[in-house]
Amino acid sequence: GKLHESTKHDSADKHVAGRAEYIDDIVEPKGTLHAYLGLSSRAHAEIVSIDLEAVRAAPGVVGVLTAADIPGENDVSSPHKHDDPVFAEGKVQFYGQPMFAVIGTTRDAARRASRLAKIEYRDLPALLSMEAAVEAGARLVTEPLKLERGDVTAGLAASERRVKGRVKIGGQEHFYLESQIALAHPGEDDDVVVYSSTQHPSEIQLMVAHVLDVPQHAVTVNVRRMGGGFGGKETHGNLFAAVAALAARKFNRAVKLRPDRDDDMAATGKRHDFMVDYDVGYNSDGKIQAVTATYAARAGFSADLSGPVTDRALFHCDNAYWYPAVRVNSLPLYTNTVSNTAFRGFGGPQGLVAAERWIEDIAYDLGKDPLEIRKANFYGIDENNVTPYHQVVEDNIIHRIVEDIETSSDYQARRAAILAFNRTSKVLKKGIALTPVKFGISFTATWYNQAGALVHVYRDGSIHLSHGGTEMGQGLHTKVAQVLADAFGVPLDRVRINATTTGKVPNTSATAASSGTDLNAMAALDAANQIKTRLLAHAAEQRSLSPDQVLWEGAGIRAGGEHVSFEDAVSSAYMARVQLSAAGFYKTPKIHWDRSTGRGRPFYYYAYGAAVSEVTIDTLTGEYQVERADVLEDVGRSLNPALDIGQVEGGFIQGMGWLTTEELVWDAKGELRTHAPSTYKIPVASDVPPVFNVRLAEWSVNREAAIGRSKAVGEPPLCLAMSVVEALSMAVASVADYKVAPRLDMPVTPERVLMGVERMRGAK
Ligand code: MTE
Ligand code: MOS
Repeated sequence: GKLHESTKHDSADKHVAGRAEYIDDIVEPKGTLHAYLGLSSRAHAEIVSIDLEAVRAAPGVVGVLTAADIPGENDVSSPHKHDDPVFAEGKVQFYGQPMFAVIGTTRDAARRASRLAKIEYRDLPALLSMEAAVEAGARLVTEPLKLERGDVTAGLAASERRVKGRVKIGGQEHFYLESQIALAHPGEDDDVVVYSSTQHPSEIQLMVAHVLDVPQHAVTVNVRRMGGGFGGKETHGNLFAAVAALAARKFNRAVKLRPDRDDDMAATGKRHDFMVDYDVGYNSDGKIQAVTATYAARAGFSADLSGPVTDRALFHCDNAYWYPAVRVNSLPLYTNTVSNTAFRGFGGPQGLVAAERWIEDIAYDLGKDPLEIRKANFYGIDENNVTPYHQVVEDNIIHRIVEDIETSSDYQARRAAILAFNRTSKVLKKGIALTPVKFGISFTATWYNQAGALVHVYRDGSIHLSHGGTEMGQGLHTKVAQVLADAFGVPLDRVRINATTTGKVPNTSATAASSGTDLNAMAALDAANQIKTRLLAHAAEQRSLSPDQVLWEGAGIRAGGEHVSFEDAVSSAYMARVQLSAAGFYKTPKIHWDRSTGRGRPFYYYAYGAAVSEVTIDTLTGEYQVERADVLEDVGRSLNPALDIGQVEGGFIQGMGWLTTEELVWDAKGELRTHAPSTYKIPVASDVPPVFNVRLAEWSVNREAAIGRSKAVGEPPLCLAMSVVEALSMAVASVADYKVAPRLDMPVTPERVLMGVERMRGAK
């Protein structure tokens, strides 16, 4: 259980045994009612009339809630742009938009009744795709961003070669195993306690307060753990919590709201799909001279997090590459589809994937291994190290990361063998690719980079830990507890990890941007240090020693010649009326960002990684198999290698699902047709490559003073799945002797592979 040593997730046994408590497992208070949402069946329409008589009259129905029942504002938008109603009013803007809620004695009764509404619509023109939105000159849901450095026009003109293109990158459903859910319990006066499956309890608190028109202090939000969030519970829990709280206040009963999987998929936002138009100038040596690109994204009907998500796409337009001149801009497009939101990587992966597309274009144009083009364009160490947002890359280790995995995966020999195989194999073709990742760590909304913790040491020496972060399976609570136990020098089981609650740590940030440990562990450490300082002062005073004669040693204090155990130090301090509780705080140093000028240092540091994937495709059917993947991730000095490896494995496979099999399909009416696992294909255990070598770069240490010199791990490894796409591209390109850039759009489904093969046959 020591810091930097593997220890299992604090809930691992409970997860496996089914004893970990999720919100739907909480014992229901007597008389708990159940809410269910009524959803729109039009993509864009005026609501002419809503007739809820049959709903009200259905068996087991206690009441119905519409926008008219909201005492405060009918809005749960985060950031607060007032464009995300709880219940649609006047018009609906996407198929699946909540319009009302039914409250019943059972969930089944409420759900059945929700289908009985008679709604009359007057259809309005609907924008259902990015192309349609661009063509219609659709408005943007939020301010776009532009990043610029150097003279792009001159750079393009002076380049020996040019490539222009468009790459399409699909969206992704979070498919957290636990759906959105909230349980609200009314209290005295205007109080309400909400159990919410959320990555952002403070935001739920604020939203519920706005909707109920009560001060924030009337609302307490609790979450012990989520059954996965992946960004889908950063803002999209707001609505469920608001409806449950509204119903709880109105009916003065506990109310639970849990949509079924299909409704959760239809009514909540996903990863943004992107369409990137690029124009890149380069020389015959493969070196990029200038890049200009526009990043259109399907924002959906409201802003939600589309601003920061598209910003982060631009922040990763470079991946690990130096662009002498660059100009990129974002287009967060209004569409009549669900409002897209955070998803592991938060736009970064989409930005990075586009960069890999033009690297690939250049490689195929010049007849070289894409890896050579990558190496030719990596950021330099002391030169060529300024990003498009004018941050200097100070911690560049991409060369060593790539060298390490190129060797350990035996890349060169395997590539040569694959080229030989493809020369003789008629139906089956193979591909291999090595792709790098550089990922910026910190919230680009600078004020989010703060955290709090509350630590109590009880008289028996046991420790109670609360911090602002939430547990969604990633192991945050375990890591923060490790840091706290290490600070006091006590065994890990001395620390009890508690549910996250707004009543203990206020004004917290979302657990997101991979920074949960960086922020909250530092806050917990600050609290521990305050308590340790008091214990030391007390020990010195009691023995009339000077401050330099006492120091923390193992689990306790060395006071002069004496060793005082942690327990004795604590009980003695208690008797002397020394405070044994502390609130800790942390804010990330060094960072600043000016969005209006596109300049600053938005990231405290970068996390690096690289992966090598090998695939075999069947050129007659388009089906394929990922034969082997080697992954190397830089997590600095790992706080817990077992948990970090788990994050890297999960991230890679989730990224592979996004880029290969997970396809979202909306029909001509705007209805999401892929709204269940029967039609939406997430990777399962059998999709894990038979050879899957995942390693941490053990030689890496964070040069910044992050907690224990570690680095964030949650999101960056997802981007490594790009190596699978590139390997598929190579296999497809082999059909035309690698003379034509394969340009496979994502997700690279078997259909896309087959279409790619046909294109190659035609080009040959
Ligand atoms: N791992 C699990 N098991 N479940 C999750 O929901 N979310 C990911 C990542 N890893 C997630 C996960 C996302 S989107 C982020 S931002 C980080 O975890 C958040 O946690 P951290 O900041 O503690 O890394
Ligand atoms: Mo993660 S997308 O930042 O919740």
